[in-house]
Amino acid sequence: MSAPSLDPVLSRIDSDISAATERLLELLRIPSISTDPAYKGDCETAADWLVADLASIGVNASKRPTPGHPMVVGHAGPKGEGVPHVLFYGHYDVQPVDPLNLWDKPPFAPELQETPKGTVIRGRGSSDDKGQLMTFVEACRAWKAIHGELPCRITFFFEGEEESGSPSLVPYMKENADELKADIALICDTGLFGEETPAIVTMLRGLLGEELTVKAASKDLHSGMYGGIAMNPIRALSNVIAQLHDETGRITVPGFYDGVPELSDELKAQWAGLGFDASHFLGEVGLSVPAGEDSVTPLEMIWSRPTCEVNGIWGGYTGEGFKTVLPAEAHAKISFRLVGQQDPLAIRESFRAYVRSLLPADVEVEFKGHGASQAGQMETSDPAFEKARAALSDEWPQPAAFVGCGGSIPIAGHFQKILDMNAMLIGFGKDDDQLHSPNEKYDLNSFHKGIRSWARVLDALSR
Ligand code: BES
Ligand code: ZN
Repeated sequence: MSAPSLDPVLSRIDSDISAATERLLELLRIPSISTDPAYKGDCETAADWLVADLASIGVNASKRPTPGHPMVVGHAGPKGEGVPHVLFYGHYDVQPVDPLNLWDKPPFAPELQETPKGTVIRGRGSSDDKGQLMTFVEACRAWKAIHGELPCRITFFFEGEEESGSPSLVPYMKENADELKADIALICDTGLFGEETPAIVTMLRGLLGEELTVKAASKDLHSGMYGGIAMNPIRALSNVIAQLHDETGRITVPGFYDGVPELSDELKAQWAGLGFDASHFLGEVGLSVPAGEDSVTPLEMIWSRPTCEVNGIWGGYTGEGFKTVLPAEAHAKISFRLVGQQDPLAIRESFRAYVRSLLPADVEVEFKGHGASQAGQMETSDPAFEKARAALSDEWPQPAAFVGCGGSIPIAGHFQKILDMNAMLIGFGKDDDQLHSPNEKYDLNSFHKGIRSWARVLDALSR
């Protein structure tokens, strides 16, 4: 049952959906690629756009400089004793677009497209995360239009560096802890479960990135003159990579599984009840066989088990034609998804020592560390979770599910550690949104029902 104050807000959302979509398309036209310095000005423009858009619904917002791209912070809504206070987080930066030739349309000329599965909003950032971020803003706009005020106190907190590892985030949160502190953080950067089951993420995987440069001879060599006698660093690197998993799929880095919890029988049963269709999930991307550890269910492989993946490997001659070279260097980028209490820094040390131990004579390795974040576990006993679950279940054809998330959103843990705040992750993306890939899209249905969902969740949390 919805409260009398909610129904007119939902109607307003329905009648305003075309205008809301136009606003999102405007934001999507700004190429705010955070990792590439060439787009620094565009990140500023996206932040300015958000400040102006928040101002248009009465939010007192401003751009806050950081050593990298700016934060956008705004405040609105009633204050006072007993008035709930939520913080909403989203990120306005997007991933690079390459390979550009695989896009059917230019990534920053977004448009609505009809597909066999419905209307989609196509363009870089439509799902990750501009479309999702705007679901919350549009819910607030509708609330304000109908009631002249938001249902609770809201702090808006938008970041422009999420896709490049959030280098400014922790210092910013520490320096501005008083301003950012609220009762709970709401994050819209995750997905539905399957097609139409709303999902609240209760656990997130952490992430550790390592870049390796393996060096052997002092220069590139002729493979006829030196091949056979000289060590090839690509061979040494490949040999290391080949040994990172054993034949059962377990990762061989010493101590890697320290802090990996056993799933409770209760959670196992709950996940089994979700009826995850691994064949369909894999079939959609042209695969058929789960490649994780033996004796682990497919859903556990994505949500509750750690991984080690090679994200890139290069070296030697890769241009047109052929060159009989024995290169001096080989490179790889390797990342680990972490769960439970796994300690990213301890694993970094152990991984580096292990790699060194696997290298033959005359071969050296240099490491460059990338992001290191621990896995996140949400405090689901917080009554906000049951309120949100009920509110989402009213909007969607299926009741809301508590789920895991294989991706990493380190800020959820920062809210807990730095601000002592619980975080609730609710999002409306779909598995086929092509996040970080060419032809990213967000279903118009996700956008529309996402806005309605936030109106319902805000209503529920405010009562
Ligand atoms: N929105 C994603 C996280 C996500 C991925 C949620 C898949 C649901 C499904 C987020 O923007 C992201 O891509 N995070 C990065 C980590 C970051 C530290 C670079 C990731 O998970 O690789
Ligand atoms: Zn994201």
